[in-house]
Amino acid sequence: MAHRGSNRRRNRWVVSLLDVRPTDRVLEIGFGPGVAIAELARRATAGRVYGVDHSDVMLRQATKRNKAAIRAGRVELLCTSVDRLPPFDDPLDAIVAVNSAGFWPDPAERLRELRALLRPGGRIALASQPRCPGATADTTAQAAQELRDLLTRAGFVQPHTETLALNPPVACVLATNPH
Ligand SMILES: C[S@@+](CC[C@H](N)C(=O)[O-])C[C@H]1O[C@@H](n2cnc3c(N)ncnc32)[C@H](O)[C@@H]1O
Repeated sequence: MAHRGSNRRRNRWVVSLLDVRPTDRVLEIGFGPGVAIAELARRATAGRVYGVDHSDVMLRQATKRNKAAIRAGRVELLCTSVDRLPPFDDPLDAIVAVNSAGFWPDPAERLRELRALLRPGGRIALASQPRCPGATADTTAQAAQELRDLLTRAGFVQPHTETLALNPPVACVLATNPH
Protein backbone atom coordinates (compact mmCIF):
# COMPACT_ATOMS: atom_id res chain seq x y z
CA MET A 1 0.00 0.00 0.00
CA ALA A 2 2.80 2.42 0.98
CA HIS A 3 4.56 1.77 -2.32
CA ARG A 4 1.88 3.66 -4.24
CA GLY A 5 3.16 7.20 -4.69
CA SER A 6 -0.36 8.60 -4.30
CA ASN A 7 -0.76 6.90 -0.91
CA ARG A 8 2.41 8.52 0.38
CA ARG A 9 1.45 11.94 -0.99
CA ARG A 10 -2.08 11.64 0.41
CA ASN A 11 -0.88 10.78 3.91
CA ARG A 12 1.83 13.45 4.02
CA TRP A 13 -0.58 16.09 2.75
CA VAL A 14 -3.22 15.22 5.36
CA VAL A 15 -0.69 15.49 8.19
CA SER A 16 0.52 18.85 6.82
CA LEU A 17 -3.05 20.19 7.17
CA LEU A 18 -3.29 19.23 10.85
CA ASP A 19 -0.73 21.84 12.01
CA VAL A 20 0.93 19.39 14.44
CA ARG A 21 3.06 21.10 17.09
CA PRO A 22 6.15 19.60 18.76
CA THR A 23 4.39 18.82 22.06
CA ASP A 24 1.15 17.47 20.53
CA ARG A 25 -0.38 14.13 21.50
CA VAL A 26 -1.88 12.67 18.34
CA LEU A 27 -3.86 9.52 17.51
CA GLU A 28 -4.21 7.92 14.08
CA ILE A 29 -6.96 5.36 13.44
CA GLY A 30 -6.30 2.83 10.66
CA PHE A 31 -2.60 3.63 10.13
CA GLY A 32 -2.05 0.95 7.45
CA PRO A 33 1.66 0.83 6.52
CA GLY A 34 2.38 3.78 8.84
CA VAL A 35 3.23 6.60 6.44
CA ALA A 36 1.19 9.23 8.33
CA ILE A 37 2.50 7.92 11.67
CA ALA A 38 6.07 8.61 10.47
CA GLU A 39 5.10 12.11 9.37
CA LEU A 40 3.31 12.79 12.68
CA ALA A 41 6.36 11.58 14.64
CA ARG A 42 8.61 13.85 12.60
CA ARG A 43 6.54 16.84 13.76
CA ALA A 44 5.52 15.85 17.32
CA THR A 45 9.14 15.61 18.45
CA ALA A 46 8.41 16.26 22.13
CA GLY A 47 4.87 14.84 22.15
CA ARG A 48 3.46 11.37 21.60
CA VAL A 49 1.95 9.62 18.59
CA TYR A 50 -0.52 6.76 19.09
CA GLY A 51 -1.88 4.56 16.32
CA VAL A 52 -4.47 1.82 16.18
CA ASP A 53 -5.24 -0.56 13.34
CA HIS A 54 -7.12 -3.84 13.56
CA SER A 55 -4.82 -5.63 11.09
CA ASP A 56 -1.79 -7.62 12.30
CA VAL A 57 -0.20 -7.27 8.86
CA MET A 58 -0.49 -3.49 8.96
CA LEU A 59 0.86 -3.41 12.52
CA ARG A 60 3.97 -5.29 11.38
CA GLN A 61 4.53 -2.98 8.38
CA ALA A 62 3.96 0.23 10.37
CA THR A 63 6.18 -1.01 13.21
CA LYS A 64 9.01 -1.67 10.76
CA ARG A 65 8.61 1.77 9.17
CA ASN A 66 8.59 3.56 12.56
CA LYS A 67 10.97 1.40 14.61
CA ALA A 68 13.33 4.19 15.70
CA ALA A 69 10.51 6.41 17.01
CA ILE A 70 8.88 3.42 18.73
CA ARG A 71 12.19 2.51 20.38
CA ALA A 72 12.54 6.13 21.50
CA GLY A 73 9.11 5.92 23.16
CA ARG A 74 7.62 8.61 20.91
CA VAL A 75 5.27 6.31 18.96
CA GLU A 76 2.97 3.57 20.28
CA LEU A 77 1.10 1.32 17.84
CA LEU A 78 -1.67 -1.06 18.86
CA CYS A 79 -3.54 -3.79 17.03
CA THR A 80 -7.16 -3.13 17.93
CA SER A 81 -10.38 -1.89 16.39
CA VAL A 82 -11.62 1.69 16.62
CA ASP A 83 -14.57 0.42 18.68
CA ARG A 84 -12.20 -1.06 21.29
CA LEU A 85 -9.83 1.80 21.99
CA PRO A 86 -7.64 1.70 25.08
CA PRO A 87 -7.87 4.51 27.65
CA PHE A 88 -5.49 7.41 27.05
CA ASP A 89 -4.13 9.02 30.21
CA ASP A 90 -4.39 12.62 29.04
CA PRO A 91 -6.54 14.38 26.44
CA LEU A 92 -5.33 14.28 22.83
CA ASP A 93 -4.57 17.36 20.72
CA ALA A 94 -5.43 15.83 17.34
CA ILE A 95 -6.88 12.74 15.69
CA VAL A 96 -6.45 11.66 12.07
CA ALA A 97 -7.86 8.91 9.87
CA VAL A 98 -7.03 8.49 6.17
CA ASN A 99 -9.21 6.24 4.02
CA SER A 100 -10.37 4.45 7.12
CA ALA A 101 -13.61 5.91 8.53
CA GLY A 102 -15.61 4.24 5.75
CA PHE A 103 -14.75 0.84 7.27
CA TRP A 104 -15.69 1.62 10.88
CA PRO A 105 -18.72 0.07 12.57
CA ASP A 106 -21.25 2.85 13.38
CA PRO A 107 -18.90 5.73 12.44
CA ALA A 108 -21.12 8.43 14.00
CA GLU A 109 -20.89 6.71 17.40
CA ARG A 110 -17.13 6.17 16.93
CA LEU A 111 -16.67 9.89 16.21
CA ARG A 112 -18.58 10.81 19.38
CA GLU A 113 -16.19 8.55 21.33
CA LEU A 114 -13.18 10.08 19.59
CA ARG A 115 -14.39 13.60 20.37
CA ALA A 116 -14.47 12.66 24.07
CA LEU A 117 -10.73 11.85 23.84
CA LEU A 118 -9.81 15.29 22.48
CA ARG A 119 -9.05 18.35 24.55
CA PRO A 120 -11.39 21.33 24.04
CA GLY A 121 -10.22 22.96 20.82
CA GLY A 122 -8.57 19.71 19.67
CA ARG A 123 -8.60 18.97 15.93
CA ILE A 124 -9.70 16.04 13.80
CA ALA A 125 -8.88 15.31 10.13
CA LEU A 126 -10.77 12.66 8.18
CA ALA A 127 -9.55 12.09 4.64
CA SER A 128 -10.89 10.10 1.72
CA GLN A 129 -9.48 9.22 -1.68
CA PRO A 130 -12.16 6.91 -3.12
CA ARG A 131 -10.63 3.72 -4.47
CA CYS A 132 -13.72 2.26 -6.14
CA PRO A 133 -13.41 1.65 -9.93
CA GLY A 134 -14.33 4.72 -11.96
CA ALA A 135 -14.04 7.12 -9.01
CA THR A 136 -14.04 10.78 -10.08
CA ALA A 137 -13.94 14.23 -8.49
CA ASP A 138 -17.69 13.85 -7.89
CA THR A 139 -17.11 10.63 -5.93
CA THR A 140 -14.56 12.49 -3.78
CA ALA A 141 -16.95 15.43 -3.25
CA GLN A 142 -19.70 13.05 -2.16
CA ALA A 143 -17.34 11.26 0.26
CA ALA A 144 -16.31 14.62 1.72
CA GLN A 145 -19.94 15.62 2.27
CA GLU A 146 -20.60 12.34 4.09
CA LEU A 147 -17.57 12.86 6.36
CA ARG A 148 -18.67 16.44 7.06
CA ASP A 149 -22.18 15.29 8.01
CA LEU A 150 -20.78 12.59 10.31
CA LEU A 151 -18.48 15.05 12.05
CA THR A 152 -21.28 17.57 12.58
CA ARG A 153 -23.61 14.87 13.94
CA ALA A 154 -20.85 13.84 16.37
CA GLY A 155 -20.66 17.40 17.76
CA PHE A 156 -17.55 18.72 15.97
CA VAL A 157 -17.66 22.35 14.83
CA GLN A 158 -16.07 24.55 12.13
CA PRO A 159 -15.80 21.80 9.52
CA HIS A 160 -13.96 22.72 6.36
CA THR A 161 -12.78 20.70 3.40
CA GLU A 162 -9.44 20.79 1.58
CA THR A 163 -8.79 18.97 -1.69
CA LEU A 164 -5.57 17.55 -3.17
CA ALA A 165 -5.62 17.21 -6.95
CA LEU A 166 -4.66 13.56 -7.41
CA ASN A 167 -6.60 11.15 -9.60
CA PRO A 168 -9.14 10.80 -8.09
CA PRO A 169 -8.79 13.84 -5.81
CA VAL A 170 -8.28 13.45 -2.06
CA ALA A 171 -10.66 15.31 0.26
CA CYS A 172 -9.71 16.06 3.85
CA VAL A 173 -12.38 17.35 6.22
CA LEU A 174 -10.97 19.15 9.26
CA ALA A 175 -13.07 20.03 12.29
CA THR A 176 -12.68 21.10 15.92
CA ASN A 177 -13.87 19.88 19.30
CA PRO A 178 -15.77 22.85 20.75
CA HIS A 179 -14.44 24.63 23.86
C1 LIG B 1 -7.50 1.66 2.99
S1 LIG B 1 -6.47 1.37 4.37
C2 LIG B 1 -5.73 2.98 4.62
C3 LIG B 1 -4.43 2.90 5.34
C4 LIG B 1 -3.71 4.23 5.57
N1 LIG B 1 -4.46 5.11 6.43
C5 LIG B 1 -3.40 4.90 4.25
O1 LIG B 1 -4.08 5.86 3.87
O2 LIG B 1 -2.47 4.44 3.57
C6 LIG B 1 -7.64 1.27 5.72
C7 LIG B 1 -6.97 0.93 7.05
O3 LIG B 1 -7.95 1.03 8.09
C8 LIG B 1 -7.83 -0.12 8.90
N2 LIG B 1 -9.14 -0.36 9.55
C9 LIG B 1 -10.30 -0.69 8.92
N3 LIG B 1 -11.28 -0.86 9.81
C10 LIG B 1 -10.73 -0.62 11.04
C11 LIG B 1 -11.23 -0.65 12.37
N4 LIG B 1 -12.52 -0.98 12.62
N5 LIG B 1 -10.42 -0.36 13.39
C12 LIG B 1 -9.10 -0.04 13.15
N6 LIG B 1 -8.56 -0.01 11.90
C13 LIG B 1 -9.36 -0.30 10.87
C14 LIG B 1 -7.39 -1.24 7.96
O4 LIG B 1 -6.79 -2.33 8.61
C15 LIG B 1 -6.42 -0.50 7.04
O5 LIG B 1 -5.10 -0.51 7.53
